Amino acid sequence: MAGQLIVFEGIEGAGKTTQLQRAAAWLRSQVAVPVLTTREPGGTLLGQELRHLLLKVRDADEISPRSELLLYASDRAQHVDQYLKPNLAQGAIILCDRYTHSTLAYQGYGRQLDLKLIQQLNAIATGGLQPHLTFWLDLAPEVGLQRIQQRGEPNRLEREALAFHQRVRQGYLSLAQQDPERMIRLNAEAPAEEIEQEITKILQKSLGQPLS
Ligand code: TYD
Repeated sequence: MAGQLIVFEGIEGAGKTTQLQRAAAWLRSQVAVPVLTTREPGGTLLGQELRHLLLKVRDADEISPRSELLLYASDRAQHVDQYLKPNLAQGAIILCDRYTHSTLAYQGYGRQLDLKLIQQLNAIATGGLQPHLTFWLDLAPEVGLQRIQQRGEPNRLEREALAFHQRVRQGYLSLAQQDPERMIRLNAEAPAEEIEQEITKILQKSLGQPLS
């Protein structure tokens, strides 16, 4: 039986990781199949090295936008081949922190690289593997950036200007409008418990449907 891939997306400080962990705990109490959590970049050993290169380089100019795009694509290809596909084939439910929509939003809308090209690259990197469902935790970039300021040293992407994060958010909005069935917007400015309940409700419904 094929498993399910469920993705969490959003700008910095949206609370994706918290919600992903809570959803994983709830799912584990509901289903017998393995419930796994992973992230991009960094879901494999190669991915961890790429993540370090992508996020820890100090000067934003040291990685050009096209090079950045290809590094994210490389991380994804490795993740799909080595981790996602084999575990889905075993029937696992996988909750993934970021996937193809991040590349469209950040490199496409944020860096303003060609969206068609990114779609082609995503198709190569994923080998056609699409999420069953994507939760988009949406909030104003001002709020998100304020939240992450309290977390300590910002990473390379977090240091980008507000206008960059506004374009990224706009990108997510366009993506959600194109695929409202599978990309679900959640108000990430609501209390965490409320968001958690909403996610649980949607997952419950989705579990009732045949896994595809
Ligand atoms: P991370 O610390 O995981 O951010 P967050 O905690 O907000 O998820 O860092 C991942 C960063 O990489 C984040 O700033 C978004 C960026 N990113 C892209 O620009 N393109 C991509 O394709 C992916 C997967 C992530």
